[in-house]
Amino acid sequence: ENDGLALTPPMGWNSWNKFGCNVDETIIKEMAEAMVNSGMRDAGYEFIVIDDCWQIGRDSLGNIIPDSERFPSGMKALGDYIHSLGLKFGIYSCAGSKTCQGRPGSRGYQFQDARTYAEWGVDYLKYDWCYNEGQNAEAAYKTMSDALKATGRPIVFSICEWGDNEPWKWGKGIGHLWRTTADIRDCFQCQFDWGGLGVMDIIDRQAELYPYAGPGHWNDPDMLEVGNGGMTYTEYKTHFSMWAMLAAPLMAGNDLRNMDRQTREILTNLDVISINQDELGQQARRFMDMGDYEIWAKPLTKGEVAVCFLNRSSEVWKLAYNWKQHTMYFVKDVNLHKYQYKIWDCWKHEYIGTTNEKLSADIPPHGVLLVRLKK
Ligand code: DGJ
Repeated sequence: ENDGLALTPPMGWNSWNKFGCNVDETIIKEMAEAMVNSGMRDAGYEFIVIDDCWQIGRDSLGNIIPDSERFPSGMKALGDYIHSLGLKFGIYSCAGSKTCQGRPGSRGYQFQDARTYAEWGVDYLKYDWCYNEGQNAEAAYKTMSDALKATGRPIVFSICEWGDNEPWKWGKGIGHLWRTTADIRDCFQCQFDWGGLGVMDIIDRQAELYPYAGPGHWNDPDMLEVGNGGMTYTEYKTHFSMWAMLAAPLMAGNDLRNMDRQTREILTNLDVISINQDELGQQARRFMDMGDYEIWAKPLTKGEVAVCFLNRSSEVWKLAYNWKQHTMYFVKDVNLHKYQYKIWDCWKHEYIGTTNEKLSADIPPHGVLLVRLKK
């Protein structure tokens, strides 16, 4: 059943959060180049994904036609260019008759579209759920999954039905990741009630989904907003830290061509990325919920564990933590009563003590302290 794809959460970039429908081949090429030049490729980012609005119609044989004004070189050439940089090529379609932006969807053309994508060298398909016309979600995603498999090309399949039909219960084996919520908004705790969710609301909806994540099948709390301007530096570090803890796909959603130092620092933080990419593939669990203060733990390989102290409040959290106080009962290989661990701060990149001492820290409003316990 495991096809060897997405054994760790997929990493890459997607056009939607920053560019929406304003996407073209120049932007895609420049983003691929920036992924290399910024050091993101070396940090593990791999997929360059074109979201909605690249497609414009179908020819008389039913073949999907890309918008030739925006993609004059064609999709095969674009895929070749992305591959030439050592990256992988992702594309978007929809299980409905139309995409969310009203472009042609794949309903009724699944096998034909999958063959076309394979000819273009596509390595990743994000598959949306607008205009689904009451289809059974599991069956609709299974059809496209079968179509992709029939091409013989390894293609990571991203299920995007927003959690409406509990895809964590049936998505494994059909897709490699599934969205769990409505679209992310570039805010920490959004005050408006139009569609979409801020980072804290999304995190709350992941908390009970940990049993469903693992190598080859991930909960997807949506793409990153780091660098898009709606949150502070502290908040973006929290967003990125928690996506790492949740074993979430790390799909950057900002303009990679003109990142400031802080944005690049966040997106290429290898101490955080290695938590996300740990081969055990376990999603963190919230084992202490003290209202605005939470403690999450993610078991890692080699008997290590990542612990994230999350301060959701607008005051400083004066942390004085005794490691013997709680048992992380689900972290099987870590015994805080028996062994002493060194505490590595994943944002300061230094040891800040051992588990035999009290951990003292001032965690800023909306901030985290993210540590790895090392033997
Ligand atoms: C809805 C999805 O959830 C978004 O991520 C994006 O793909 C848009 N559709 C595109 O129309």
